[in-house]
Amino acid sequence: MDRLDRQDTPAPRQPETDSAKDELLRKLGERVKELTALHRTARVLQRDDLPPAEIIPRILELIPPAWQYPEITVGRIRFGDFVWSTAAFETTPFLQKSQFVTRTGQRGSIEVCYLEPRPASDEGPFLSEERDLIESLAEMLRSYFQRKDAEDELRAAHDQLEHQVRQRTAQLEEANRALRDEVEDHRKARLRIEQVQRQLRKLASELSLAEARERREIATDVHDHLGQALAFIKMRVSQFRGDTVFCGFESNLDEILTLLDQTIAYTRSLTVEISPPVLYELGLESALNWLAEQFEKQHDIRIVTDTHGSGPKVSDRVAIWLFKSAKELLTNAVKHAQCDTIRLRVSNTSDTIGITVADDGIGCDPARLTSASPDSSTFGLFSIRERLQYIGGRMEVSSVPNEGTTIALFSPRTMEGD
Ligand SMILES: Nc1ncnc2c1ncn2[C@@H]1O[C@H](COP(=O)(O)OP(=O)(O)OP(=O)(O)O)[C@@H](O)[C@H]1O
Ligand SMILES: [Mg+2]
Repeated sequence: MDRLDRQDTPAPRQPETDSAKDELLRKLGERVKELTALHRTARVLQRDDLPPAEIIPRILELIPPAWQYPEITVGRIRFGDFVWSTAAFETTPFLQKSQFVTRTGQRGSIEVCYLEPRPASDEGPFLSEERDLIESLAEMLRSYFQRKDAEDELRAAHDQLEHQVRQRTAQLEEANRALRDEVEDHRKARLRIEQVQRQLRKLASELSLAEARERREIATDVHDHLGQALAFIKMRVSQFRGDTVFCGFESNLDEILTLLDQTIAYTRSLTVEISPPVLYELGLESALNWLAEQFEKQHDIRIVTDTHGSGPKVSDRVAIWLFKSAKELLTNAVKHAQCDTIRLRVSNTSDTIGITVADDGIGCDPARLTSASPDSSTFGLFSIRERLQYIGGRMEVSSVPNEGTTIALFSPRTMEGD
């Protein structure tokens, strides 16, 4: 463009002859041809819808008309292993060539040949403007191929990325599937565990009730058979002592009678110990009062009871069970609390009965009272909590160091099967 401006901008002076004017017009015509070729090449190279195999032949078509002697001009373009040329291309000594190298190191060239000799000019038969033109075309081709390379790289990177995304998605889906399976397995395992826990609680509850039944039967047997037999023996021995005249056996018989009295008393207390009849005969409130008295006597401790609010009757099974639990709480206070006083209270709502045992002892870490599973040596509170849970009740605990421990049991008045 500069050259055209420089050379062809009309000088202020007029051409002196017609031939000078013709020469000027001819040169102007050459520049127009060159500019046209550059302009069209640029347009063809912008066609992103066509592959290089279609683009390059179109550019080759633009070459002959751009050179001085179109009728004898042929052209060839190389890039990498590819070669494109105009029809009847052949290499002759009248050759103009420009080479280029892309950023990735790919080499290419553009060659223009005259098939016949022509008068010498700036570069063989070629004009220096044609040198500029071929260099410009080479530069345009270089940037075209470079752009194609970059696009190919971009496409490859994009494909690679898509491939990785697809792979990763597949891996994630697989991991997701595995996770879902695992979650499902866990859910089933948890359901199984819950079912087993329910069965175990039921079993423990049944066992403790069966134990109470057995104890009651044993207590009845001891009372009815052993107790009565002993009473009968005592009666006969007393008769025997009164009816018979002895020679020195009286003191032995007295000893036997004393022993019999002791055994009868022991049998009675054993009966009560095994299964306190007061629980069955007079109900939970009276049984708890009796239990408190027993503890006071046996352990020299003060027990304050407030058992008058027991409300509507609880079922026998719940009563047996709460009695047993209250005994465990009193035992714990005696065993662990080092306390002076224990308060035993019964409270009620319309459908629950509550039993609270509070001591003024040394207290303990509340975690010890609520640990989820028992260690081998502590089973009392664990079994109370599990059985309460089974029948739909709950246990509440609180403990403050040196102030004491309070444990409250809340149970429904009846349990399943009553
Ligand atoms: N009233 C209390 N005062 C202080 N600590 C207590 C009291 N009651 C329970 N504990 C603590 O809680 C622990 C758990 O009591 P739990 O009744 O379960 O077991 P245990 O009495 O030690 O043994 P087990 O009842 O099986 O014969 C006890 O070992 C004790 O440390
Ligand atoms: Mg205990």
